[in-house]
Amino acid sequence: MAVGILLVGGFGTRLKPLTSESPKPMLPVAGLPVTEHQILAAKRAGIKTLVLATSYLSEVFTPYFGDGSKWDMKILYALEKEPLGTGGAIRNAAGMLDFESLGDEPIVVFNGDVLSRHSIANQIEFHQAKNADATLHLIDVEDARAFGCVPTDDEGRVTAFLEKMDNPVTNSINAGCYVFHPSVLDLIPLGDVVSIERETFPALVESGRPVFGYKEQAYWLDVGTPAALFKGSRDLIEGDFHAMAGSSIDPSAVVTGKSSLGRNVTVSKGAVIDDCIIGDNVKIENGAHLSHCFVFRDTIIEAGLEKSRYYLSSSISEPINLP
Ligand code: GDD
Ligand code: MG
Repeated sequence: MAVGILLVGGFGTRLKPLTSESPKPMLPVAGLPVTEHQILAAKRAGIKTLVLATSYLSEVFTPYFGDGSKWDMKILYALEKEPLGTGGAIRNAAGMLDFESLGDEPIVVFNGDVLSRHSIANQIEFHQAKNADATLHLIDVEDARAFGCVPTDDEGRVTAFLEKMDNPVTNSINAGCYVFHPSVLDLIPLGDVVSIERETFPALVESGRPVFGYKEQAYWLDVGTPAALFKGSRDLIEGDFHAMAGSSIDPSAVVTGKSSLGRNVTVSKGAVIDDCIIGDNVKIENGAHLSHCFVFRDTIIEAGLEKSRYYLSSSISEPINLP
C-alpha cells in the first residue's frame, strides 16, 4: 500500500498576516485545516501511513493530529530545524519510513497547500502501469506563470520541468501531487537544501528516467494567498455558511456569504458575519459587523466592532489589513 508525505513546512509568506500565528497548512478551510482535507483525500486513496514534513511552527501539528488514530491512519512527524526546501524535506521525511517492509510501494508526496479532488488512486495506478520513476499530477490553468510548467509528449512523458517562468511553454502545470518509486529518493542528498522543482525533476528528466504526467482536470486550488484561501473555503461550503460542532448563532444574528465558523464559536445578538473565516473558540459579541475578515482562534470580537477585510486576533493589539 502506498505511503504519503505531506510538505507542510513552508513559511507561507504570501499569506501574511494569516500565517503570522499559524502555518499555512493549519489554516482552516470550511472549518478544517487544509492538512486535514488532504489527509482525508489520502485516506480515500487507500493510504494508511503519512509523514508530515514540518519546519515553520512545527509544534502545532502534533497536538492536532496526534498518532493519526482519530482518522484511522498512522501519522508520523519529521522536523527540519531549518527548512530544507521541497526536495530536502521529502528526503528527510522518508527517513521516518521503513523501506524494508515497504519494498517497492510507491510514495505519494503532497504540497501542503493544495485542495484537489483528482483521483489519487487513479494517479497511482497510472504510475504503476507506466513503470514510472515519478508521476506528477498535471492540470491546465489559464496563467501558468506562478507554477511549475510541465510539457509532455504524446505518451504523457514529461519532456521538461520549468519552475515559474515568464513565458510559459504550456498551460499544463505541476499540481503538487507526485507519486515516486522509492529509488528516486536516493537521488536526493540527506540533510541538504534541495528544491524538487528546480533540481530533482529537471535532473530526472534530463537523465532520461521515466517521468510521467497524469492529467486530470478536477477541482484544484493552491490556497497560497489570502484571496485563494477565502475562495477555497467558500468553494467547499454549500448554502450560506458552515459551522462546526459547538457553535451557536443568536436568531437575530446574520451569518452569510459562505462564512466558515470553527468549533465553539458564539455569534451574539444582532451580529453580522459576511464572507468570513472564523477560527475555533471565538466569541462575536452583540452587534459586531465583520465582512471578509479572518478571525484567529480564541479571540473575542467586542460588541459593535465593525471591520471589513481585516485579520483579527487576541494576540495582536491592532487588527491588520488583509491584502
Ligand atoms: N517541509 C518543508 N520544508 N516544506 C516546504 C518547504 C521546506 O523547506 N518549502 C516549501 N514547503 C512546502 C510548503 O509549505 C507548501 O505546502 C509546498 O511545500 C509548496 O511550497 P509553495 O511555497 O506553496 O510553492 P508554490 O506554490 O510557489 O509552488 C509549488 O506548488 C505549485 C502548485 O501549487 C511548486 O511545486 C510548483 O511547481 C507548483 O506548480
Ligand atoms: Mg503553493
